[in-house]
Amino acid sequence: MNVAEIKQPASGTVPSQETLVEARDLRRVFDLSRPWLNRLIEREGRVTLTAVDGVDFSIRRGETYALVGESGSGKSTIARMVVGLLKPTAGSVSIAGTDVWAKAQAAEQRAMRRRIQMIFQDPFASLNQRWRVQSIIAEPIKAFGLITNPADRAERVAELLSLVGLDPRDGQKFPHEFSGGQRQRIAIARALASEPEFIVCDEPTSALDVSVQAQVLNLLRDLQQRLGLTYLFISHNLAVVRHMASQVGVLYLGRLVEEASAQELFSEPKHPYTRMLLDAVPDIAMEGIERRSIAGEIPNPITPPPGCHFHPRCPRVMAHCKTVIPPVEHAGNTSVRCLLYGST
Ligand SMILES: Nc1ncnc2c1ncn2[C@@H]1O[C@H](COP(=O)(O)OP(=O)(O)O)[C@@H](O)[C@H]1O
Ligand SMILES: [Mg+2]
Repeated sequence: MNVAEIKQPASGTVPSQETLVEARDLRRVFDLSRPWLNRLIEREGRVTLTAVDGVDFSIRRGETYALVGESGSGKSTIARMVVGLLKPTAGSVSIAGTDVWAKAQAAEQRAMRRRIQMIFQDPFASLNQRWRVQSIIAEPIKAFGLITNPADRAERVAELLSLVGLDPRDGQKFPHEFSGGQRQRIAIARALASEPEFIVCDEPTSALDVSVQAQVLNLLRDLQQRLGLTYLFISHNLAVVRHMASQVGVLYLGRLVEEASAQELFSEPKHPYTRMLLDAVPDIAMEGIERRSIAGEIPNPITPPPGCHFHPRCPRVMAHCKTVIPPVEHAGNTSVRCLLYGST
């Protein structure tokens, strides 16, 4: 994609200092074992996969926090735990101080669901194909009891369609009558219908044609400014992240290996994995430097390498990287899990 088409951040959009979203020591283990009887007969043990392993981050109100990492690094698993779709094995997520997973009264839970929305990679799969667009967008308004009068609701749907750059008359149509980019606009309108303050965008433009990606990204940014939204923005594309995010977390096999402001991460990447990712991005302003692809394969997550998960691919691997799990070290405003930055 030509990232020049993406608008630069407006100087007036400094996020507040207030923490809106906080993930603490998030962990998710999937049990991949075969049924008990099979295991007994075949004398097999349990098989588990740790998709997310001790992930911490916090997002300030009005900010875009990006999670980047290759496919399988745990991005969608984190997204689903943050919005309340998947229960963490351990750890917590809170929004404005309220635990997403705490046992709450039904009314409190509903209020929480209204405040958090998610936009998925594939707008075709996430929209009900048999419903007219107006019904798709009206559904959250009805479900949360926001507008009960049908005429007022129709007016609100028209307003939401305009807000995402569609024609209010498009409400009469069905999802299949739209292009991929327009369908993602419909999904955005539906997400906005419950008047959320926090939206998780899981690879929102990865399924779209390159030519329409920038349009949808710009729309997300405009909406953030107009509505004061906070985003968790998930992408494997660093060029996109650079132009969307204020803060970036880099994931590798379920662990956050580096966290920094977008500016710092792109100008001074610290973790060897982050450096490798940046070297592989074609249109980031490091002209003249030879592009390298990311060396090596991601290991099998069921049997990840001991110590630092990245050590088999790391150009700067040291002996103790193979046994020691790197603790979080602070280098300037960057947090990095790499023994190169250890104090000892
Ligand atoms: N429901 C599930 N059952 C078993 N394994 C899963 C499930 N969901 C995700 N995984 C595994 O967890 C890891 C992380 O997946 P995911 O969060 O989808 O990564 P990403 O979004 O970064 O591509 C992968 O190894 C994936 O196969
Ligand atoms: Mg994913």
